[in-house]
Amino acid sequence: MTMTALLLLVMVAHCIAVPMPGDETDKRLQAEKYLSRFYHLPAGLLGARKSSDVLQTKLKEMQAFFNLKVTGKLDAETFDTMKLPRCGAPDVGEYNVSPRKLKWPNNNLTFRIENFTPDMKKADVERAIRQAFNVWASVTPLTFKRLHSGIADIMISFAARDHGDFNSFDGPNGLLAHAYAPGKGIGGDTHFDEDENWTKESNDYNLFLVATHEFGHALGLEHSREAGSLMFPTYSYSPGFPLSEDDIDGIQELYAQGEPKYLEVGTTLTLEPDVSTVQQPIDSIMWKYGTNLVVDWDPSGHTYFGSFRGRTTLDPRTLRLDINRLTLADSGQFSVETNHRGVGTYEVKVIKPPPTPSIKTQPLVCEFTCALKCTADTQDLGPVSYEWKEDEGEWTKGDALKNISSSDTPEKFSCRLRTPVRTSEASIPKDNPLYKPPDGLTFGDIFGLRIGILCGVAVIAVITVISLVKCRPGDVELGK
Ligand SMILES: *[C@@H]1O[C@H](CO)[C@@H](O)[C@H](O)[C@H]1NC(C)=O
Ligand SMILES: *[C@@H]1O[C@H](CO)[C@@H](O)[C@H](O)[C@H]1NC(C)=O
Ligand SMILES: *[C@@H]1O[C@H](CO)[C@@H](O)[C@H](O)[C@H]1NC(C)=O
Repeated sequence: MTMTALLLLVMVAHCIAVPMPGDETDKRLQAEKYLSRFYHLPAGLLGARKSSDVLQTKLKEMQAFFNLKVTGKLDAETFDTMKLPRCGAPDVGEYNVSPRKLKWPNNNLTFRIENFTPDMKKADVERAIRQAFNVWASVTPLTFKRLHSGIADIMISFAARDHGDFNSFDGPNGLLAHAYAPGKGIGGDTHFDEDENWTKESNDYNLFLVATHEFGHALGLEHSREAGSLMFPTYSYSPGFPLSEDDIDGIQELYAQGEPKYLEVGTTLTLEPDVSTVQQPIDSIMWKYGTNLVVDWDPSGHTYFGSFRGRTTLDPRTLRLDINRLTLADSGQFSVETNHRGVGTYEVKVIKPPPTPSIKTQPLVCEFTCALKCTADTQDLGPVSYEWKEDEGEWTKGDALKNISSSDTPEKFSCRLRTPVRTSEASIPKDNPLYKPPDGLTFGDIFGLRIGILCGVAVIAVITVISLVKCRPGDVELGK
């Protein structure tokens, strides 16, 4: 009885403390709080009349971020957006003198679950957290190892209101969770608001989805403006693989893949993950191309997907994947999971065989210096380098353009292309346009000499013709 009375009293007090909804001053105060939290509206101006210019600028910034009509006014649409449940990380980056990307220096990260929410079974919390890490592992070379004691890179906890990081939660709804960018100490740590009802379902707040978003921050991602992406600041539930292309591009910019594997069109790709790291027995294997499936295996059999059907084989014992008849469209990222854990990621680039180049002179007529250009269509060849050869000498590395001058003595130049897979055939040898024969005569001398000879020949011919005309047999007869 007294308990009920006390509860009622508390509720009444609570209702009195909260101003009437729709009250303009209150709305403005809430908006200022939101903008100072997520858009760096300078603190200390809260409620002051002078702040209206700054407030307008920040409102516009927020409206642009959420793709709302940019009015600079606290209209209904803007205010409703501010009410949506969301992540506690700001939407605009921290003010750094020079923007730098925060990322972990190693790809082998650790995490620890410090406490559990009573909302869910412990095993379901563990599964949600593990699956959230697997999402990021499936598109990066990152691995996540769970620690049960000590300090991990990513410390995970559930806490309500003030929880010791000067970044309190706000009771049910509103802020759901936050995570710190990579770094020592609190860096990477991820906190979930215990005042939310965490679930493994579509209602209230799905822990897997919120955790995947927060781990994005813990790995160095900021909020995205793309409404369909996981890194969008507000919560929305949708089943299936949560990452969009925007999320994948973002994380791969931070954690580049290892050296890409280059293969030529028509050849066979073989990927062999390290099976010794895999937990046995294996009861599921999934190879993916980007976010699409290549092959799915469980003890009942294989299922091959899309364009990979009919040219792909998976050995479930070794996890080895072979794909025949590669095409340019097979370039991209392949990843493998066993028992729903990421095991490996591979960047594959399919390229064309290198064409035989030809050599062109630049400019077309050269006098003392000019350049030779090793010319070929280099599209879809991957990174190309050039090699040059003088007469029958050795191939040496060079650029597409080779400057030559009259001090270069070879008679002929050849070039070829090198792709990451092999070298092309050599070009047809090109005569050195500045060729100087060993006897010291220059090209010009030869040219002059030739003209001289030609002139001489012409003069002799003319004289001969004239003398022939003079001595025509007819004339002789006439003279008779
Ligand atoms: C991660 O890799 C680095 C460098 O290879 C190594 O020094 C470090 O001990 C590893 N950490 C863990 C947790 O395995
Ligand atoms: C929390 O979610 C669970 C699972 O969907 C549901 O059964 C439960 O009623 C919810 N609890 C509250 C307080 O909303
Ligand atoms: C070749 O000559 C051009 C123009 O004279 C110059 O810009 C370029 O740097 C030279 N390249 C090399 C490899 O010497």
